[in-house]
Amino acid sequence: MMAKRFGFLVVVMAAMVMAEIVRGDSSEELKVKTVKGNKVCTRGWECSQWSEHCCNQTISDYFQVYQFENLFSKRNAPVAHAVGFWDYHSFITASTPYQPQGFGTTGSKLLGQKETAAFLGHVGSKTSCGYSVATGGPFAWGLCYNKELSPSQSYCDDYYKYTYPCSAGVEYYGRGALPIYWNYNYGITGENLKVDLLNHPEYVEQNATLAFQAAIWRWMTPVKKGQPSAHDAFVGNWKPTKNDTLSKRVPGFGTTMNILYGDNVCGQGDVDSMNNIISHYLYYLDLLGVGREQAGSNEVLTCAEQKPFNPSSTTASS
Ligand SMILES: *[C@@H]1O[C@H](CO)[C@@H](O)[C@H](O)[C@H]1NC(C)=O
Ligand SMILES: *[C@@H]1O[C@H](CO)[C@@H](O)[C@H](O)[C@H]1NC(C)=O
Ligand SMILES: *[C@@H]1O[C@H](CO)[C@@H](O)[C@H](O)[C@H]1NC(C)=O
Repeated sequence: MMAKRFGFLVVVMAAMVMAEIVRGDSSEELKVKTVKGNKVCTRGWECSQWSEHCCNQTISDYFQVYQFENLFSKRNAPVAHAVGFWDYHSFITASTPYQPQGFGTTGSKLLGQKETAAFLGHVGSKTSCGYSVATGGPFAWGLCYNKELSPSQSYCDDYYKYTYPCSAGVEYYGRGALPIYWNYNYGITGENLKVDLLNHPEYVEQNATLAFQAAIWRWMTPVKKGQPSAHDAFVGNWKPTKNDTLSKRVPGFGTTMNILYGDNVCGQGDVDSMNNIISHYLYYLDLLGVGREQAGSNEVLTCAEQKPFNPSSTTASS
């Protein structure tokens, strides 16, 4: 008990020292101007582009090292598979280009915290090596992996031989924070991040900043034109059409699973693959002090009844 209180004091004092340093460094100061009647800001390295979103908090204002450590407390345990790979700094650095686009910075602090929990909930569930009797519980094991360990195939799809031809001697097995599989997914991600991932998919398992960056890019980018990104669906930038409503797709966490995984997870009823992602999100909401009750009703939280945006029978052949 005493030790805990003392730890808290140290954290508070460290935060005060940090605040001094930050105030002393003019590059970290909030700069404000008005463009076409809209207030836009920059905020140092973490929010360095002029954007209206930068007038609000940055992610590190509400999400700090100790919270990252709490969420991913077992990632450096001896039995984990990516010991020493993932860290807080990589996540914040990777988020830097996306915060001005609203990643973790849209709306209120509460919405920012929820989006961070939602994104990391996906990441935690996809990189977990937890199971029901694991120490610390099944949800303490996010970021245990940074790559697929026993790939059953090389994930080279010849259909894309003209657009994203497989490079000799490399394999396109799952790697990253929201694991990337297949030549075409490495190809399109690399194109957007301006990194040659088609010829060098291994970069993703060598560089945690790149691994987080690829995942945040996926979160911020629609899978197909005219569809919402997971970010847009989560923060409510997206307005469902009549078709969406008929397909039970509403803004919220459930629809982010629909966008990222389609009918692998959604429209299957109350299945484990879906519940595992939801459980990580709720666990992180609790650890961030937001509380799982902020996740909203089942209608927004799950996708059990949703029709997929992109049914796998049609995406596989397109
Ligand atoms: C900034 O936060 C306020 C509430 O704290 C919110 O109303 C506003 O929409 C936010 N601005 C942006 C650009 O996200
Ligand atoms: C890791 O990836 C980031 C983001 O793409 C890049 O800026 C950085 O230079 C890379 N680091 C190394 C050592 O290649
Ligand atoms: C609405 O859904 C129907 C049936 O799934 C589909 O045929 C139609 O193209 C959709 N309309 C729009 C505007 O997406």
